Amino acid sequence: MSTVLEFNNVSKYYDVSRNISEIFSGKKPKVRAVDDVSFKIQQGESVGIVGESGCGKTTLAKLILNLVNPTSGEILFEGKDISKIKNNDELMKYKRNLQFVFQNPYDSLNPRFTIKDILLEPLKALNFDPNKFETMITDVMNLVKLKNKDEYLYKYPHELSGGQLQRIVLARALIINPKFVVADEPVSMLDVSVRAGILNAFNQAKSSMNFTAIYISHDLALVKYVCERTIVMYLGSIVEDGPTHDVINNPLHPYTKALVKAVPVPHVNQSHDPLPILGNIPDATREYKGCKFADRCPKHNNECQGGDIKMGLVEAKPGHWVDRCSYITS
Ligand SMILES: Nc1ncnc2c1ncn2[C@@H]1O[C@H](COP(=O)(O)OP(=O)(O)OP(=O)(O)O)[C@@H](O)[C@H]1O
Ligand SMILES: [Mg+2]
Repeated sequence: MSTVLEFNNVSKYYDVSRNISEIFSGKKPKVRAVDDVSFKIQQGESVGIVGESGCGKTTLAKLILNLVNPTSGEILFEGKDISKIKNNDELMKYKRNLQFVFQNPYDSLNPRFTIKDILLEPLKALNFDPNKFETMITDVMNLVKLKNKDEYLYKYPHELSGGQLQRIVLARALIINPKFVVADEPVSMLDVSVRAGILNAFNQAKSSMNFTAIYISHDLALVKYVCERTIVMYLGSIVEDGPTHDVINNPLHPYTKALVKAVPVPHVNQSHDPLPILGNIPDATREYKGCKFADRCPKHNNECQGGDIKMGLVEAKPGHWVDRCSYITS
């Protein structure tokens, strides 16, 4: 297997507006949305990115899609640094390889376009052969299980249900046969009843087209269904990375343990023990010494937040990496 995507010590900091006291003291607070992140993704892998709201999942996706520039570090796609893409041709080539499925299907489709126009748009923009348009539309509509295509193609987005629209969003991403698909919470806006259908369509498309996938979610239960590998993020950093089965059944980091415990189990006799996590979502502009999770960690000790502690992932088991702090304290 070859490496498709590589993050090397990538950070993305956003400047945030300052209050009066910060202006007078000369402080310039920054949100560390993605903070010194490194990982590699192999061709054909499906990788879940999980973590609570604000931990940097969407920023990571935007970095991959070249929608924002990293503050530092390098992002390589098929060995090439994407920040060095200079001309339009190279950018088009890059965009042809990568597609994105957004969270909200109502926002991601142009309300003035028919479904057919929506599907034709990427084909025209990326200069596909017009003789193949009809076949490509038929194939992709079958792939996302909207088989009776004429029922949908001449309608406008507002005439379809949320589930049907998200299948169209998926179809628009897949129609150009991308090598890499990033799906950011693709079913979180949908009713539970239609989620399984979309996820099945995504899984089937993945196995027939063999694209590499990043699936972003705050819900470990969904990631389990779609991804063989899971990366857990906390406050912009990766705290655990391993096979999904291992991460869920044998979580090593105290934060992952809390996430696993937070997955609801539909059983009336299920006991509701308190979550093994303290406090609230922390301030993303704070500078940390040592472990970022220490304030909320039931196992923390004085060492955790000491300036001397060296953080970073260690391979606890083959292929299963965890942030050094929890490795020491577990
Ligand atoms: N353009 C921006 N300017 C300033 N701060 C930003 C910007 N975009 C994101 N942030 C901040 O960066 C952090 C990470 O945001 P991001 O959207 O990546 O999180 P997320 O994990 O996708 O959250 P959610 O699960 O709610 O979608 C948050 O603290 C957010 O407020
Ligand atoms: Mg997000």
